[in-house]
Amino acid sequence: MAESTTPKEADIDINEQDMADRVNNRTLRPNSATFQEFMTQGWGEQEASVEPLESSKYIGARLAKLGQRFPGERLIIPAGDYKTRNNDNDYAFRPDSAFAYYTGLGEDLEPGAILVLDPVQSGSPQAQSGQTHQAMLYVHPRADQSTRDYYRSSQYGEYWVGPRAGLKELSIMTGLPTRDSALFDKDIAQGVGPENEAVHLRALRHTDEAITAQVEAVRKEQGQCSPDQGVALDNKFEEFASEARMEKDAYEVGEMRKAIAATKDGFDKILSRLPEVVGLPRSERMLEGAFNANAREEGNDVGYGSIIASGTHAPILHWMRNSGTVEEGDLLLIDAGVEVNSLYTADITRTFPVGGHFNPIQKQIYETVLEAQQAGFEAAKPGATYSDIHHAVMRVLATRLHEWGILKVSVEESLSPQGQQHRRWHACGCAHHLGLDVHDCAEARYESYQGAAITPGMIFTIEPGLYFKENDMMVPPEFRGIGVRVEDDILMTENGPEWLSKQIPKSVQEVEAWMAERAHQA
Ligand code: GLY
Ligand code: MN
Ligand code: MN
Repeated sequence: MAESTTPKEADIDINEQDMADRVNNRTLRPNSATFQEFMTQGWGEQEASVEPLESSKYIGARLAKLGQRFPGERLIIPAGDYKTRNNDNDYAFRPDSAFAYYTGLGEDLEPGAILVLDPVQSGSPQAQSGQTHQAMLYVHPRADQSTRDYYRSSQYGEYWVGPRAGLKELSIMTGLPTRDSALFDKDIAQGVGPENEAVHLRALRHTDEAITAQVEAVRKEQGQCSPDQGVALDNKFEEFASEARMEKDAYEVGEMRKAIAATKDGFDKILSRLPEVVGLPRSERMLEGAFNANAREEGNDVGYGSIIASGTHAPILHWMRNSGTVEEGDLLLIDAGVEVNSLYTADITRTFPVGGHFNPIQKQIYETVLEAQQAGFEAAKPGATYSDIHHAVMRVLATRLHEWGILKVSVEESLSPQGQQHRRWHACGCAHHLGLDVHDCAEARYESYQGAAITPGMIFTIEPGLYFKENDMMVPPEFRGIGVRVEDDILMTENGPEWLSKQIPKSVQEVEAWMAERAHQA
């Protein structure tokens, strides 16, 4: 008979303190009163030295627009918090992009922080001067040597993580007033109620579950709205915050230029490494290592998982396992971007002939993808829509596929909404906003994104490709296992589109010359 599964009393007598003490099963932590006393003495000052961030000059305008959209409401924008990777190890922290946008903070700043926009009192001098909200940045105070957390908290304690920014430092960096995040619990409910004139809450609800739960609890206690209404309010807020990032300001354009320059350096490093790794097991990883090391050296990190796809991996749209061997004669598709410290990322794809020269079929496919990209570029005029870019790209691809005898129906039938057969070889999108997120502004409405006019300040990619899977029996054998994508980053200006990534070689001749040049700079 199976053993009883009734838990023993000793098994269920676990409280939080027991859990915390469990750490002593594997690492013995000193905890005597003598030790505690000893650890707070004999330390010299250790100031975290900081300067105002360049972004701090831009966040006032961003916050003003946000406030004008939601007058009278308390707006809650969490940074997010550490996420456990396993037991007491966390993933590297990256703040939510909306938080980064509205505070101007980047890198790993700041876990557990919350930006709150509090509505100003109507009739107050602030309101009379046109101000709608007062911003407050709630942050965890420094756990320096004067605190017990100094040596107890492996997340905040400066014994563990080194000097970090606290209230004073983050205020200098952002220009925003700061407050201890422990006070958020009390502050969040101030003035909230069911009446029209009471303060109403809106939160970016997908960033930090604990804060969303708090917001929902306050709404319920104060009889403010039903849970479903709360979700709808928050979703509108998320949509607005996403669309607000579509047109980049001068600071953001500058950061994007840096991200693209660092990405070019990363591609240079890949090409220098390429000759020595051809034929080696896991050589895709070796090239990934070259790019990602550069991303950490020049920026914050990669902006998304690098795609290093050689041979039959190239038609796999998001091949990020990168575990394959780069073989002589392969086409090597690399889609990678450096995220700079401000968290803006590039998104660039180039496809290289391993060995340095495109063979005729590779060249034919590659040049068709370039032609499609050029058509997309020409369609991207101020006032045109994303859909216009899409249709221009697709017309070129469908036409060539038809000429090659691969697309068996007419070009017009395939391009019609009822057809779309050519999408078998290009099932993904071919243009998207780019910025703090690689797929930026993702919560925007259709009418603000695909269906909207492209306006000056927007940064986006154009990334056509052709993807012939190795087992695609509908294409001639010489096409099978070939994937090509070319992706560039573009800024729309008053005078038309600017290729921000123009410095990254692209034509057949330029790519071959670039590979030859880098091969000699290992
Ligand atoms: N790297 C993802 C994309 O190109 O959209
Ligand atoms: Mn892209
Ligand atoms: Mn990409």
